[in-house]
Amino acid sequence: MIVCRTIVELKEHLYALSEGGKRSIGYVPTMGYLHEGHASLMREAKAHNDVSVLSIFVNPTQFGPNEDLDRYPRDEERDLKLADECGMDVVFLPTVHEMYPTPSKTSVIVGGLTDRLCGASRPGHFDGVGLVVSKLFHLVKPDRAYFGMKDAQQVAVIEQIVHDLNFDTIIVPCAIVREPDGLALSSRNVFLSAEHRAQAVVLSQSLDQARIWIQEDTMTAGLLQSRVKERIESAPDAIIDYVELLRYPSLEPLEEEELTYKLDAPVLLAMAVKFGTTRLIDNSLYHPS
Ligand code: PAJ
Repeated sequence: MIVCRTIVELKEHLYALSEGGKRSIGYVPTMGYLHEGHASLMREAKAHNDVSVLSIFVNPTQFGPNEDLDRYPRDEERDLKLADECGMDVVFLPTVHEMYPTPSKTSVIVGGLTDRLCGASRPGHFDGVGLVVSKLFHLVKPDRAYFGMKDAQQVAVIEQIVHDLNFDTIIVPCAIVREPDGLALSSRNVFLSAEHRAQAVVLSQSLDQARIWIQEDTMTAGLLQSRVKERIESAPDAIIDYVELLRYPSLEPLEEEELTYKLDAPVLLAMAVKFGTTRLIDNSLYHPS
């Protein structure tokens, strides 16, 4: 496994390994502190491409001024071990200066899709994601890039960027990996106290429950959202940021009277919930039956 810290090194190695672009490149962009969710993406990239590339970069432009950039967890040694176990050929570990030698004057802003959910709660977040993913795609030139549905809105935003800017990359969405009790794996789970970790299971439980509620004949988007909120608030320390039911991938709201079981397209139930200072997100996609 080759570890590159500069863009020049990365380009040289990728050119050689891909034989000047003749062999396919599978790419997994991450911010590190890797877990089994990231590993599932790496294994997919490995299985379906000639060359597999992982990047680890805690991207400052996607964090707001009062967010957790400074305390974002890091463990390079452990990350490299897992990347090696997953068979990555190249790991790109740039510094902030390497990625942003001067502040970027160019923005990648995706309209509409970023007005809701995490786009609304974290202003500018998806501009930072759009910028860094666009830069990374230009550097890695992946044939396929692997993203987790844990960040369903991120997948929709990146699909739109790829479409609008004609990137030659296929986006492969991958299933959410969960702990045995249902909690979605996240680098931020490490910040949960034992008490909050126990309570956090309410997110996936409410999504499972919603799968049953959504089939009720008289169910509406509003009723489902309020039932899910009530369920989440049964955990004493849960502070809801949002619970929303939207069409996917357009992220348009559903009409209030629209019965979900009549839908002809998938709907996304997405939530962001804080336990203490830790903000967790989770979601489920429901397909029409
Ligand atoms: P990060 O949070 O490190 O996540 C990297 C990738 O791993 C994302 O595609 C994310 O959806 C996926 N992932 C995280 N937890 C997962 C889980 N439990 N199951 C499946 N996949 C999971 O997302 C980012 O980094 C950044 O925004 C990035 C795209 C790298 C741009 O900076």
